[in-house]
Amino acid sequence: MISDAMRTRLNEQINHELYSAYLYLSLSAHSERANLKGTAAWFMAKHSEEMTHALKMYRYLLDQDADVTLATVHAPPVSPDGVLAMFEDTLAHERSVTAGINDLVDHALSEKDHATNIFLQWFVTEQIEEEATVNDIIGRLKLFGDQGQGLLMIDNELGAAAKTMAPAAAAPAA
Ligand SMILES: [Fe+2]
Ligand SMILES: [Fe+2]
Repeated sequence: MISDAMRTRLNEQINHELYSAYLYLSLSAHSERANLKGTAAWFMAKHSEEMTHALKMYRYLLDQDADVTLATVHAPPVSPDGVLAMFEDTLAHERSVTAGINDLVDHALSEKDHATNIFLQWFVTEQIEEEATVNDIIGRLKLFGDQGQGLLMIDNELGAAAKTMAPAAAAPAA
């Protein structure tokens, strides 16, 4: 059993996770159109991960005998040109998600809702890893270049990394 306020906030977070999935789906398509197949596969894997995040919260609400209320998912913005800009937008987005998760934890603690607090700890840890991964990619793009040979190498690395991530529903042909 969770409070109405906690339920509302978790439903809002489901919407944010679905928006994240939508954003990364858009970036995947944009990458593939730019012939960056590894980058496209990486964003498609991120799309799958974000769907998993939404479904974890969906499952938690149902397990807590609470309603799941699905709302409109906003359209993502037009993707920026340039792979560095795409990853900088991704980092900014993940930082905003981290802030949202932290707010959820604050709320759970204010209600002494221990179950939701424990449930959210997985997301706190996940956000550390997500920010670190994207920060690392940005660093490598700056070091080796976001065009030509440097970009080719990093695109290949991202394609290899995508294979170790959550299974993508619609990965491009290798
Ligand atoms: Fe997420
Ligand atoms: Fe994320």
